[in-house]
Amino acid sequence: MSRRMLAAGNWKMNGLNAQLPELLSVIEANPSPTAEILICPPATLIAAMAELARDFPLSIGAQDCHAESGGAHTGDLSAEMLRDAGAAYVIVGHSERRANHGEVDQTVRAKTEAAWRAGLKAIVCVGETEAERDAGSALDIVAAQLSASIPDGATEDRLVVAYEPVWAIGTGRTASTADIDQMHDAMRVQLCSRLGTEAGSRIRLLYGGSVKPSNAAEIFAIGNVDGGLVGGASLKASDFNAIISAAD
Ligand code: PGA
Repeated sequence: MSRRMLAAGNWKMNGLNAQLPELLSVIEANPSPTAEILICPPATLIAAMAELARDFPLSIGAQDCHAESGGAHTGDLSAEMLRDAGAAYVIVGHSERRANHGEVDQTVRAKTEAAWRAGLKAIVCVGETEAERDAGSALDIVAAQLSASIPDGATEDRLVVAYEPVWAIGTGRTASTADIDQMHDAMRVQLCSRLGTEAGSRIRLLYGGSVKPSNAAEIFAIGNVDGGLVGGASLKASDFNAIISAAD
């Protein structure tokens, strides 16, 4: 089963209009990439970046959405609004949302449904904390998150899963190749048993957590790793371009 690699940048709460040249540098360096390229800037930059990227092989995504399509939710953005602004993807259930905004698997599932309703592809994030890994329960925790966060009806056209060990995000530490391999294999088996082998084999599984130019090639070479969700290293075009090259 060949799956197209995906290099996805998550800018988190970083990025002003002054950073738009970083996007142009990524576009210029990748005129016809083999891998799919995605950047998820803060929502304030989605429209401008989608416009800049319109004629290029680079997609723009959002970092979160509300589960409802509209209504009295001050400060929130619906999946429909993000789509309207030019987003093609939305990240849901990132560990920073789970930890800082009390999002649980049911929230993530509802947001994934909202993304699909609006025609967005959802990148559903899962991952264990350090204490959970130390306790030997990483596989169980991630399996439970995966099972409860993903709605029925997942296909490769609208779902990407990102395994992001919480303790590896923004810390400079990455999971070992053996641990990533084991986790991604387990997620693949779980998706195949839920969706059928054919459909489950087509869903892309990203690794996230301190992916950088120096480790991207090794991580992307792991069998069930279909790309990366990259935070810090996606903010600098030269670093992100090196990661895209590793995925290409
Ligand atoms: P990091 O973030 O690459 O800075 O560790 C990854 C993420 O949170 O998606």
